[in-house]
Amino acid sequence: MLMGQSRSRLRPMLRVLVVRLLKFNCLFLLILMMKSLVSLGTALERGKAEGRKVRLAVIDHVTSMPCVVIPIKELVQICREEGVDQVFVDAAHAIGCTDVNMKEIGADYYTSNLHKWFFCPPSIAFLYCRKSPKSPDLHHPVVSHEYGNGLAIESAWIGTRDYSAQLVVPSVLEFVNRFEGGIEGIKKRNHDTIVEMGEMLAKAWGTHLGCPRHMCASMIMVGLPACLGISNESDTLKLRTHLRDNFGIEVPMYYRAPKEGEVGAITGYARISHQVYNKDNDYYKFRDAVNQLVGNKFTCTLLSK
Ligand SMILES: Cc1ncc(COP(=O)(O)O)c(C=O)c1O
Ligand SMILES: *[C@@H]1O[C@H](CO)[C@@H](O)[C@H](O)[C@H]1NC(C)=O
Repeated sequence: MLMGQSRSRLRPMLRVLVVRLLKFNCLFLLILMMKSLVSLGTALERGKAEGRKVRLAVIDHVTSMPCVVIPIKELVQICREEGVDQVFVDAAHAIGCTDVNMKEIGADYYTSNLHKWFFCPPSIAFLYCRKSPKSPDLHHPVVSHEYGNGLAIESAWIGTRDYSAQLVVPSVLEFVNRFEGGIEGIKKRNHDTIVEMGEMLAKAWGTHLGCPRHMCASMIMVGLPACLGISNESDTLKLRTHLRDNFGIEVPMYYRAPKEGEVGAITGYARISHQVYNKDNDYYKFRDAVNQLVGNKFTCTLLSK
């Protein structure tokens, strides 16, 4: 499966993840995570074959669908050890959702927007760029007056764009600090509550979570009852619409195809999130809606008619 030098680092990494996930009795995200690690290993090896070099690795910090917090620090380390030139982290969901420490993560580039978990209006994001001998030659794709004066100043003024979202950041910081513990407090309470609500839903539906608590931040995957008959991605979209139209519930869903010969498996996972404005009742409402569907012998085939 994995050959050459990367075996040394990828194997222990895989083992840690496998143990973490097996403890939790959940194979769904384990398999996805292993596939990603194996693809990374294979890509790095292919890149190194015949003395070639991997110029850039792009890795997510918090994946969107299904959602899971990637062990980014370890993956960046592996890339370094494998001689990857530069590592770019797509951390769209990260700020305000999970721990973000540039020094610890050690990537060359790291970007997160502030319009997902940091209460800002769209569009606002930051790009971290590690100082390195390579960075002076980096430019913003749109340069107004400041060409050659450094990436930061080139990015600060790119002409007649609307800067309103950026100007809101100081007020957002002030808003965030009104909550106990600031953003750290918010993150912790979001995490604790989403795990609690996820477990509550899984218990009520007789299913399980998509990943263990330490692999999620403020979003978690919860298995939907198999009897809903979610058979493909189109079913998840129709069920989502059905819940919106008939129950006033908005929740994204993920379709997981059953393996060959697998019977009665969970094929649909809902991605639930928690932010300061959510109440436990939001999740109870979702629990009851699904239980009502199950009680009424609803299946997704009804939505295809
Ligand atoms: C991993 C990832 N990258 C990028 C994006 C897009 O982010 P933006 O709204 O900043 O374009 C998302 C949004 O869901 C995401 O989850
Ligand atoms: C998805 O599955 C449903 C049954 O749940 C079926 O009626 C429908 O035709 C399928 N749609 C696609 C696009 O395969």
